[in-house]
Amino acid sequence: MCGIVGVIGNGPAAPVILGALQRLEYRGYDSAGIATLVNGHIERRRAEGKLANLAASLARTALAGSTGIGHTRWATHGAPTERNAHPHGTARVSIVHNGIIENHAELRAELEREGQEFTSETDTETVAQLVDFNLRRGMTPIEAAGAAFGRLHGAYALAMVFAGHPELMIGAQFGAPLAVGYGQHEMFLGSDALALAPLTRRVAYLRDGDWTVVTREGAAFFDAEGAEVTREIRLSSVAGGGVGKGGYRHFMEKELHEHPAVIGDTLHRMVDPASRAVMLPGLAMDPAAIERVSLVGCGGAYYAALAGRGWIEEVARIPADIDVASEFRYRAPPMAAGTLGVLVSQSGETADTLAALKYLRHAGTPVLSVVNVAESTMARESDAVLQTVAGPEIAVASTKAFTAQLTVLACLALGIGRARGTLHAAREAELTAALLQVPAAAALVLEDTATIQRVAERLMVARDVLYLGRGTCFAIALEGALKLKEICYIHAEAYAAGEMKHGPIALIDRDVPVVAIAPSGPLFEKTASNLQEAAARGGQLIVLSDAEGAAKLRRIAVETMVLPRVDPFVAPILYAIAVQMIAYQVAVLKGTDVDQPRNLAKSVTVE
Ligand code: AGP
Repeated sequence: MCGIVGVIGNGPAAPVILGALQRLEYRGYDSAGIATLVNGHIERRRAEGKLANLAASLARTALAGSTGIGHTRWATHGAPTERNAHPHGTARVSIVHNGIIENHAELRAELEREGQEFTSETDTETVAQLVDFNLRRGMTPIEAAGAAFGRLHGAYALAMVFAGHPELMIGAQFGAPLAVGYGQHEMFLGSDALALAPLTRRVAYLRDGDWTVVTREGAAFFDAEGAEVTREIRLSSVAGGGVGKGGYRHFMEKELHEHPAVIGDTLHRMVDPASRAVMLPGLAMDPAAIERVSLVGCGGAYYAALAGRGWIEEVARIPADIDVASEFRYRAPPMAAGTLGVLVSQSGETADTLAALKYLRHAGTPVLSVVNVAESTMARESDAVLQTVAGPEIAVASTKAFTAQLTVLACLALGIGRARGTLHAAREAELTAALLQVPAAAALVLEDTATIQRVAERLMVARDVLYLGRGTCFAIALEGALKLKEICYIHAEAYAAGEMKHGPIALIDRDVPVVAIAPSGPLFEKTASNLQEAAARGGQLIVLSDAEGAAKLRRIAVETMVLPRVDPFVAPILYAIAVQMIAYQVAVLKGTDVDQPRNLAKSVTVE
């Protein structure tokens, strides 16, 4: 799961590749590497760890050559060492790969019997050795690569260069995206349009099974059967300018402070200011005809979808199913007619969610994506897109994209409800008014730094933390626990508050803080009873509520964060900001790598 890039350039390729890899680092930062062609020979430079290590190595000694490939890695097969860093290859061929070659063990055994010598533990090297073996048998690079693709099982985006062919790159796609960029007498390959953005706006996307032969003059495309095909060159609108921290310590801190603007911008697109009615432009099907919704996402996006399910059931009064994408695909649920598939993703490149997209399309189910990256694979391949206007999100832990997803899903529920006649105009206006109040309330939450600091000081010393919530706020308990795990490395679990007494309550003692997401509303009293049960067993309650709820729980809470009072319908959006801020502050206190936490990648492009 990685980012790949290729360049046939007019000047030194390595700095161009390095720049593109910086834009792809969201796909992994376990190691990085570049291979170029220097006087017809393949030269390679690799470094363990973040891209900065490779950049430092290149700054010490430059890598010549105007044609080359590069890679930033999230390790799957083989430890994140320099030895396992891409590019992989031999003196004849060098390859970078995003994906997983599932039949690598059989191929490796076969190739070793044929005398190919492996130097890494990766699945990728089998592709390089297979192409090399074909070259050894006298095939041309195009024949060698074309023959190799037919042997691969799994998912791949590949780019490769060949010794003695200084102006040739071959790329291939199956289950992982690859784009071809057209420059001025220069050509590029990249995992996405962002990688290519400052280099060119003219981009063609491969389809699954395609492979491409790229020279300085252009690119030829072939399908899985080897027939030459045409792939449209589009004008990309992705901006390639670097995103800075704007004076904040971390991207995550900056992105947290963008919550009010992002929620406001998203609402601006979705709510008509005059009528207070939700606008759902270009849905994949007539909202009045939607009889069921099937929501799919991964990680935080799944939690946003979980809140979305609650809203859709509440106001649109239709059944809503929900799955994590990795389960959905293999559970292979029968899709009833009248179902709208709703995919939720920040990146639009998450492999499991893309597999769900394929499944839904195969089942003939219309697909709506709630996606942040406009030209992502998911956005391009869905029937309809409701874009979250969160802007680039750089920190691995999602913050503003999550609340933008919540905002879009809340609006989607209102739009379907109105179309189906389960939500009347007056109530819709009330709920959109409540949504429009969120940006200002969000700004107040961000200002409460003193409380956030106190809560963070309690949590930073904990080994385990429980998060509790009910209804749509259960999704926020899950979000809080996920954030604490991913950036603070603290074990945290979330439970629907009423479920705690069925087992997890056994965990509660004085050392386990319990964070309660408890806004006033119809579920408050029930949640409060569950919190009493936890307090009675010594639980250290940290209560997140509004003034009224906080007053009721102050006696049993060791810490209280008072949030602005909002309509319970929109509370999840506001409380998400609080749990994210708390996790951020814990991470700062613990001194973790906030923006690029260990073992993670921003976009998970393998199954
Ligand atoms: C959230 O903080 C995580 N980094 C992660 O769970 C993320 O939400 C998940 O991988 C889904 O990514 P996507 O939204 O890009 O599809």
